[in-house]
Amino acid sequence: MQIDKNVEKDGVIFMSVKSDSDGVGDGSGDVTILAIESSCDETAAAVVRNGREVLSNIISSQIALHTVYGGVVPEIASRKHVEKINGCIRAALDEAHLTLEDIDVIAVTYGPGLVGALLVGVSEAKAISFATGKPLIGVHHIEGHIYANFIENKELEPPFVCLVASGGHSHLVIVRDYGEIEIIGQTRDDAAGEAFDKVARAIGLGYPGGPKIDKAAREGNPDAYSFPRAQIPEAKYDFSFSGLKSAVLNLINQDRMQGKEINQADIAASFQKAVVEVLVDHSIEACREYGYDKLAIAGGVASNSLLREQMEKECAANGIKFYRPSPLLCTDNAAMIGAAGYYEYKKGVRFGLDMNAVPNLSLGSRERRFHAGKG
Ligand code: KG4
Ligand code: ZN
Repeated sequence: MQIDKNVEKDGVIFMSVKSDSDGVGDGSGDVTILAIESSCDETAAAVVRNGREVLSNIISSQIALHTVYGGVVPEIASRKHVEKINGCIRAALDEAHLTLEDIDVIAVTYGPGLVGALLVGVSEAKAISFATGKPLIGVHHIEGHIYANFIENKELEPPFVCLVASGGHSHLVIVRDYGEIEIIGQTRDDAAGEAFDKVARAIGLGYPGGPKIDKAAREGNPDAYSFPRAQIPEAKYDFSFSGLKSAVLNLINQDRMQGKEINQADIAASFQKAVVEVLVDHSIEACREYGYDKLAIAGGVASNSLLREQMEKECAANGIKFYRPSPLLCTDNAAMIGAAGYYEYKKGVRFGLDMNAVPNLSLGSRERRFHAGKG
């Protein structure tokens, strides 16, 4: 994977991601999708052919702008999306050596996410669809994360178990078929990424927490502290990370009251070990109980190095084939939206120009506006 990176005057990082495995289709019967993603603090556009072949993948990351505030400021995110979105789409088309005329379908994330941020992508996609007459498809952001697995694992087909761990969601699902996702576990409180972000802030690592804890943990002792691993007896695949977060906060307060320096690296490593252990145990157990021998991971937390390492190890030990997207395809991007949009398109899903952003859209509950039959 090759990344061309450029920091713009306003601090936004403009990236063009090129996958090694991507080529160009033969043109016959191909479905070429222009995909748009703007649910949080990345403005992204991609051109994806037949669901798995990425012709271009442009990500404009605002992360540096939000770091000073310790988290994403929705108003700033929306404004930046408005400024960046046309440039991202133009770059995505240019890099794919295509024009809007060559595009068959417009796919866009319509939820969940920040409403003002989502609306920028949704409005843009509707405008392009209206102007060109091309079909419009709304994609569930979390489904997009799951579908990122298809981009670099061409042989992966449903059914399989997938762990989805992002900033706002922690789900354990069975992908029964394309677009058929059954939730078997979810968080009762904080999402895994949210726990990373909150603990990072508490120990002074700042935002974004996940990558900072991942890095700090490499210098720390993962057995320095024994943090709780929550189990929910009546729902064994559910997660709960708030007790773990409170345990870290209590430890920090105790240390501070005793005038001790907190050991950032040891806390980061012990916290990370606790989260990863729970995520891995739940996922492997689900494969065993439901009888699946394929396990995928998705979402921002799926780029965590310990999670990837431990999943790999445990899958190998249990005869399970392990799939994961490259770290850059784990975090928000539009290529994954193009992948998910393709399979929706093939099922005949079409959205009208009355599509709206749905900030709290839950997994499996997407509104399918109409099915136009196989197409
Ligand atoms: O999927 P994503 O980019 O956005 C959402 O849809 O939420 O996930 C962002 C989350 C953040 O909470 C971030 O801290 C976490 O993913 N994250 C990580 C790592 N990289 C990003 N968590 C743990 N380790 C990482 N390396
Ligand atoms: Zn995401």
